Amino acid sequence: MPGIISSIAYVRLGAPDLDVQEKFLTEFGLVKVHRDARRLYMRGIADEPFIHVTELGESGVLAVGYNVHPDVPIESLQERFGATVEAIDEPGGGKRLRLKDPNGQSVELVQGRERVAPLPRRNLLRGTDGMSKDRGPAKIERLVHTAYATTRLHETLDWYQSHFGFLATDELYIEKPGNTLGRFVRADMGDEPVYHHILFVFRGDKDGLHHCSFEVERVDEIFTGGDHLHELNYDHVRGIGRHALGSQIFDYWMSPFNVMHEHWSSSERMNDKSRFNEIQIGSGMVHDSGERPPERFVKQASPILS
Ligand SMILES: [Fe+2]
Repeated sequence: MPGIISSIAYVRLGAPDLDVQEKFLTEFGLVKVHRDARRLYMRGIADEPFIHVTELGESGVLAVGYNVHPDVPIESLQERFGATVEAIDEPGGGKRLRLKDPNGQSVELVQGRERVAPLPRRNLLRGTDGMSKDRGPAKIERLVHTAYATTRLHETLDWYQSHFGFLATDELYIEKPGNTLGRFVRADMGDEPVYHHILFVFRGDKDGLHHCSFEVERVDEIFTGGDHLHELNYDHVRGIGRHALGSQIFDYWMSPFNVMHEHWSSSERMNDKSRFNEIQIGSGMVHDSGERPPERFVKQASPILS
């Protein structure tokens, strides 16, 4: 029986200035869907009605949304999770169940959101003027994962794996197996290929969102979009590089409100039979390409706003 979650739907953040947030997110590569006095909704070029919400207020993370597998009626989860299905009064509509994870992080399970028409992709045909000159923000397809620092590593992993059926993809340990530093978990869609992880949870000094990650249309977009953000003097944290685990090309940018956003692309996929690996931190990571991560990358944890 595959898990009950098919993919990640959106992040819901808090920020004290929606103008500044909208400008950053637009230059990062997201597209505005709706904005009112208190909320800002952004989408990618794929068909999700929105993948990023900002609510006016304190800076941090309010919730993460996950799509319930279409074969699992969301109503059937009410008793199991002790929560009541409610209608979503946001772009795309649909239904939602709200839960709290062991760190107090709100988790929103959603189903029945209306799909929207995809937006134009990058034009790959060179024009008659004869120059390759596409510039501007990255073309972002979708949200693919979040990463969390936690003081309750095993409790958090057990919660997500037992509640949603997430499968362990890779685990990092210090010195000996079982001394876990962090674990990447993925959605269980049976034979269907999924991304390396939908969630990365690692041991930290405090609880918080490390980053949210957005898949770009193709790897070129990480460079195009990065050039664009550099030209505008946005706050670059780490990249461009490649994690050996999951063949993940990355570039990390800090929002003006101290929430890290990743441009991401990967050519590797998993299904429910893919092998689980335990990797000693250090030796197993020597294939990470790019510069060593700065201290602030390692320590990053945006507050959980409950
Ligand atoms: Fe990531």
